[in-house]
Order: sequence, then C-alpha cells, then structure tokens
Amino acid sequence: MKILDIMRRRRSVRTFDGEALRPEDAERITEYAENAGNPYGIRITWKLLDAKKDGLSSPVIVGTDTYIAGKTDKVPHAEEAFGYSFEKIILFAESLGIGTTWIAGTMDRSAFEKAVELAPGEVMPCVSPLGYPAKKMSIRESMMRKGIKADTRMTFGELFFDGSFDKPLTAERAGRLADALEGVRLAPSAVNKQPWRAVVCGDKTHFYEKRSKGYVSPDGWDIQKIDMGIALCHFEAAAKESGLEVSMEICDPSLPGQEDLVYTATFTVRQSPE
Ligand SMILES: Cc1cc2nc3c(=O)[nH]c(=O)nc-3n(C[C@H](O)[C@H](O)[C@H](O)COP(=O)(O)O)c2cc1C
Repeated sequence: MKILDIMRRRRSVRTFDGEALRPEDAERITEYAENAGNPYGIRITWKLLDAKKDGLSSPVIVGTDTYIAGKTDKVPHAEEAFGYSFEKIILFAESLGIGTTWIAGTMDRSAFEKAVELAPGEVMPCVSPLGYPAKKMSIRESMMRKGIKADTRMTFGELFFDGSFDKPLTAERAGRLADALEGVRLAPSAVNKQPWRAVVCGDKTHFYEKRSKGYVSPDGWDIQKIDMGIALCHFEAAAKESGLEVSMEICDPSLPGQEDLVYTATFTVRQSPE
C-alpha cells in the first residue's frame, strides 16, 4: 500500500475490539521500532506494555490492554526526534491494520513512567495503545473528535508557501513536492493544532513551527516540536515515494516575515526523476 494512502487512512483509534494484540504483530512492531531511527541520531528505546500487568490506564482508550511507550534522554531536539520515530512506528502499525493514538496527556503518566523505568534525565513524551479498531467508535470518542475537529485539516495554501511567506503555495505549483506536502498536511498533531508551516524555495523546503500559547513547559519542553518531527517524517516518506532523494539539515535561511515562527529544519531535494 502507498505510504500516502496509509497517511490518508490513519486516524486516532480510541475504541478497540477487545482482541489482544497478536504475538506476531507485537513482534513485528517491536522489531520495526528498534530500527526506526531519526535524522537527529537520538537514541530512543521502546517498550510494549501490558496495562493489566503494569497497572496502566488511559481515560480515553477502551478495548485493548497493549501500549507502546518510548523514552529518550532529555537533550536538544529530543522532541522532533521522538515525533519522527514514533510516527514511523504509528504508520507501520497502520499498514498492519493496527490502530494507534498518540497520547501525551490523557494517561496515568506516573504509572507509565514507572513501567518504562524512567531514569533521571530521561523523558517519556508519549505512548500509544495498540490493537484492532472496533467497528464502531464509542460515543465519548466521537464527541472528542468533534470537540477538537479531528477530521479537518488546514488547506495547502494556509500551511505552505512559495518562495516567501506572503505567497501561498498551490498543489499545482508544488509540482514534484505536492505529495510530500500533502503528507505533511494530513499528519496528526497535539489537539490537531497543525503547527507546521513550510516555504519551498527551489530545491529547498524550510520547515517552521507556528507555536500555540501554552504548549511550552517552564523547563523548555515543547510538545509542538513533537508535531514538527511528525511533519518531517511524513514529508520524507512521501517524498521518497514520489521518487525524490531528500536530505535534512538544520540551516536557518533567516527568511523575512517569520517573526512569529520558529525554524525547525530544511529538506533539500538531491535528485529527482527527470
Ligand atoms: C504529540 C501528540 C499528543 C497527543 N496527545 C493526545 C492525548 O493526550 N489524548 C488524546 O486522546 N489524543 C492525543 N493526540 C491525538 C490528537 O488529538 C489527534 O492526532 C488529532 O486530533 C488529529 O486526529 P487524528 O489523529 O484522528 O487524525 C495527540 C497527538 C499528538 C501528535
């Protein structure tokens, strides 16, 4: 299945059918997670957890007892690295027909942190349930989706720009990058805020974070940087599927008109199928 179709099909699943995660699926996910990697070279360790055994709970999840959690050292770019790697795992799970939901807030955090044996200096940013989606969402889940408008996304022209921030980009003008950017547009984000913005300048696509108020904690941890990591993951995967060879670097071009935005990273197209 095409990665862009997997991105289109994925949604947060909070109501599962009650079947335990099959051992072969658990094994596939564990193996994939170990090799997920990220462009920051930051090591993340993953663990599958059993809610019953480890005394875990999330008030929004029903019908599965399996969770995956990741932890990493609290270092610069840990958020983007975590977002990138965890989203790779989430998309892989989707390709196997396994439902997931990014969870940063609605969980018994101290129980999860104990279960992953979080050490000082480490952070466990998010967890996700793993299981098989129920045929019907719970009323609570559908109400939650409506509340955060989970089924809507901003338009191409609101998120992406053509050479400078005063010129919205169209999918037609994006040409060979249209699918990669569409992949970004479809990505999940905390409270569906979609903080990613991107400016295409020739073979370079510069990514920026449009911060919402109240998402950076006093110690500097920025949950929307996790969203940025998710966007980078989607861009790279969909660009590769379009036959583009892309590489990422952190090299702020200091474009004008970006005062309320925080620079994240730049992708350069190295080779395209001409
Ligand atoms: C970093 C991050 C944290 C999230 N935290 C939660 C959470 O604590 N609880 C929850 O129910 N959903 C959480 N979500 C899921 C989002 O609400 C969801 O991705 C968004 O509304 C878009 O809906 P979709 O995933 O169905 O496309 C989180 C998503 C991300 C990316």
